[in-house]
Amino acid sequence: MKKVLVTRKIPEVAVELLKQHFEVEYDGDDRQMSKEELVERVRGKDAVLCLLTDPIDKEVLDAAHGCRIFANYAVGYNNIDVEHATRKGILVTNTPGVLDNATADLAWALLFAAARRIAEGDRYVRDRKFDSWKATLLLGRDVTGKTLGVVGGGRIGTNFAKKARGFDMKILYTGRSRSEDFEKETGGTFVSKEELLRESDFVSLHVPLNPETKHYISDAELDMMKDTSVLINTARGPVVDEKALVRALREGKIWAAGLDVFENEPLIEEELYDMKNVVLLPHIGSATIETREEMGLIAARNIVSVLSGERPQTCVNKEVLK
Ligand code: NAP
Ligand code: GLV
Ligand code: GLV
Repeated sequence: MKKVLVTRKIPEVAVELLKQHFEVEYDGDDRQMSKEELVERVRGKDAVLCLLTDPIDKEVLDAAHGCRIFANYAVGYNNIDVEHATRKGILVTNTPGVLDNATADLAWALLFAAARRIAEGDRYVRDRKFDSWKATLLLGRDVTGKTLGVVGGGRIGTNFAKKARGFDMKILYTGRSRSEDFEKETGGTFVSKEELLRESDFVSLHVPLNPETKHYISDAELDMMKDTSVLINTARGPVVDEKALVRALREGKIWAAGLDVFENEPLIEEELYDMKNVVLLPHIGSATIETREEMGLIAARNIVSVLSGERPQTCVNKEVLK
């Protein structure tokens, strides 16, 4: 029987599917394996189902000699050295599409939470401070009718922007290329990065982390943004220079931020913990019961397909299939 490693706890349905076909090594623990353990446990496996918290670097890939596929339980795959996997003929798969709604919904939740001070208001009530309706208590910013700037008009960026329709927003987007789909689905206009930052009331990031998008938002970009604007990051932490963001929030260069991801997760810039104008979430963009099951099923099905000699449903390095 072929051997599959599942590195960390995932929804049971996916593990059950794998168990129907393979000998599955699965502890069911929700802890990140150390690098040494990962290197040890990928040895002799035909497939590995890994999570975005697993750094799948050269050392791990080299230890996984004979392994056919690393199925990442995420759409982002910046945790994997894909080039090295390709050189070794190992397929890398991800989970695109099924998490678009969940992640775009969470970006909206953060946008509203930041604009309308939801988390702050919740803390205020729990602290038993709500003693009277007040004309100037917890004043936020209007969302309806404002300008929305979307960075990265891909799957999640398009889904997110489409949802702005009910709020009568003007939609701008930027990225490395124009997207007909984005424009058709959202009525949005492609602009330069600078124009988007200068014009938008809300800027939401939806690019993958790659060498070009690291610190895509840093001091210069935060300087360009309106001092009334809100920055939302549900992409990857290092897309924003977190120290620069702390400075901008402290100095009032932007009005607020909503963050689901952090530069050195799970570590967070210490100052952010005490700032009122930032909403902090523990990387839960795709965290709905339905979506997390779908992600597990895609990853598991990809493993079943590849180990049966078929093509996977999704793939990051198609060169390996040729
Ligand atoms: P996608 O469909 O590939 O869209 C990414 C978009 O970013 C595309 O429009 C792409 O342009 C653009 N882009 C790529 N590199 C760029 C660059 N260097 N400069 C400017 N634009 C660039 O990906 P997706 O499925 O929407 O997912 C986006 C990211 O969201 C994932 O990679 C992941 O990191 C993150 N995510 C986070 C969560 C969470 O839990 N918070 C959940 C899901 C996803 P091209 O069309 O030219 O490639
Ligand atoms: C989550 O962050 C993902 O990339 O799927
Ligand atoms: C507020 O509750 C209002 O009635 O305006």
